[in-house]
Amino acid sequence: MWWWSGQVRPETRRPRDKKINRSLSRGLLVLYNDGMTQEPNIYELVGGDAPFRRLVDSFYARVERDPLLRPLFPADLEPGKERQFMFITQYFGGPARYNQQRGHPRLRMRHAPFTIGQAERDAWAGHMLAAIDEAGFVEPARSALREYFQRAATCLINANANAKSVELLG
Ligand code: HEM
Repeated sequence: MWWWSGQVRPETRRPRDKKINRSLSRGLLVLYNDGMTQEPNIYELVGGDAPFRRLVDSFYARVERDPLLRPLFPADLEPGKERQFMFITQYFGGPARYNQQRGHPRLRMRHAPFTIGQAERDAWAGHMLAAIDEAGFVEPARSALREYFQRAATCLINANANAKSVELLG
C-alpha cells in the first residue's frame, strides 16, 4: 500500500497531531515510522540514504578530532556510526532499520552511561550543525534537521554543572 502526499495512515491519525496538519497544509508528504516520527518525509525529499551517509561521516570525523567528545565514544567508532545512520534515516522518514535491529530508540536511556552536560551537548550539536551544511542539505530539510538535533541534544543533557554545589548544599 502506498501513501501519498496529503494522506495520513488512518491508524496513526490522532487528534493531537497538530504538527502533521501543519505539514499537510504545506503539501509535504507525511509518513510515520512506527508512530515515532512526526516529521514530514525529509528522507524522500533529499533523495534517500546518500546525504545522510555524508552527514554521519562528516559528524563522526568531527567527533574523532574533538578532545571533549572523543573520550565518551568507544575506540571503534564504526558500529555507533551505523546505528546513528539507521536512527537518523528512520527518524526522518526512511526505512525502520534502527527499530528492526535495535528495538525502540529510548535515547535518554541509551545515553545514560555518558555524562552529557551543557558543554558536551553544545559540542555535539555544533558538530552536527556543521555536518548538515557539509553534507549539502538545503531548505526545507536543513532547518528541519537543525531544529530536531538542537532540541533532541538538549533533551539528552543528563549532567548538571551545578549538581556538585547542590550536593554540597545538602
Ligand atoms: C540529537 C541528539 C542525539 C541523537 C539523535 C543521538 C543518537 C544516538 C544513537 C541513535 C545512538 C546509538 C544508540 C544505540 O542503538 O546503541 C547514540 C549513541 C551514542 N551517543 Fe548519541 N545522540 C544524540 C546526542 C548525543 C550527545 C549530546 C552525546 C554526547 C555528547 C552523545 C553521545 C553518544 C555516545 C557516546 C554514543 C555511543 C556510541 C557508540 O556506542 O559507538 N549523543 N546516539
